[in-house]
Amino acid sequence: HAPDLQDTILVCSIGLGHSAFMGKSHSGGKDDPVLQYVVNNSLREDPVLTKLRLKTLEDRWSRMMVAAEEAQLMANLIRLINGTKAIEIGMYTGYNALSMALAMPDNGRVVACEIDQTYFDIAKPFFREAGAEHKIEVRIQEAVKTLDELLLAGESGTYDFVFIDADKINYDTYYEKSLQLIRTKGIIAIDNVSAVEWESPAAEDDVSSKALDALNKKLHKDERIDLSMLTVADGLTLAIKKHLQ
Ligand SMILES: C[S@@+](CC[C@H](N)C(=O)[O-])C[C@H]1O[C@@H](n2cnc3c(N)ncnc32)[C@H](O)[C@@H]1O
Ligand SMILES: *[C@@H]1O[C@H](CO)[C@@H](O)[C@H](O)[C@H]1NC(C)=O
Ligand SMILES: *[C@@H]1O[C@H](CO)[C@@H](O)[C@H](O)[C@H]1NC(C)=O
Ligand SMILES: *[C@@H]1O[C@H](CO)[C@@H](O)[C@H](O)[C@H]1NC(C)=O
Repeated sequence: HAPDLQDTILVCSIGLGHSAFMGKSHSGGKDDPVLQYVVNNSLREDPVLTKLRLKTLEDRWSRMMVAAEEAQLMANLIRLINGTKAIEIGMYTGYNALSMALAMPDNGRVVACEIDQTYFDIAKPFFREAGAEHKIEVRIQEAVKTLDELLLAGESGTYDFVFIDADKINYDTYYEKSLQLIRTKGIIAIDNVSAVEWESPAAEDDVSSKALDALNKKLHKDERIDLSMLTVADGLTLAIKKHLQ
């Protein structure tokens, strides 16, 4: 039979195990009726995004994919602020990059950072099918390098939205560079912020968890931004750049 949302749940559960999947939803987990209800009654997924999501589930790393309802939230934020310039740090197979591009007018531009060309190869036909290929500029190299190139090109203060979703250890660097690139009232969204592994005995030694925890604590008292930490998927922080007097 044709793969549907229920298959999504199944594939994710096999890949991740129970507890890790709880917070992260691509469709609402069987384990969480509230989340399932929310997704059932609010997800409006573009047909090409549905295809891309199902295609991505064939990949062994599909648990990295953004949650559909999380991507929809970011697309709505972009619409709300009339965003036309965004950066995706950690594109993977392009679900969120495409979702953001579709939320923008035809002159919109998404700079997508990714190190693995094979993921771009998966993404490309879907960008084309959605008629959004011209809006998404993929740069296959270290994300820090791309951000530095944008800064060097004089694009400071010109971006409306940044999504940080790559290697956790560099999150602080991504955040600082994003804060330079974003305009006043622009939004930096940071994924997976509540995935600090409190319960694991290995947490003390987990460099990713530590880096994430340190960044969360830094943002909490960062006067340059307003913020909210949402319990969407594995935790999504929204940092809104303040106007500094
Ligand atoms: C969690 S996934 C991103 C999911 C994606 N945002 C989506 O919409 O489904 C993280 C991605 O970051 C990429 N990545 C990891 N380290 C990177 C780096 N230093 N520079 C650029 N990309 C990186 C990985 O190859 C992976 O595809
Ligand atoms: C969500 O939709 C699925 C598929 O239609 C259905 O099986 C499930 O009962 C629904 N769950 C809730 C909580 O609405
Ligand atoms: C977005 O654009 C619309 C139409 O051009 C305009 O009316 C509105 O004020 C803009 N909103 C923001 C937040 O810039
Ligand atoms: C989120 O971060 C945690 C801790 O670093 C990690 O174990 C988990 O796999 C991450 N989840 C996703 C979906 O990236």
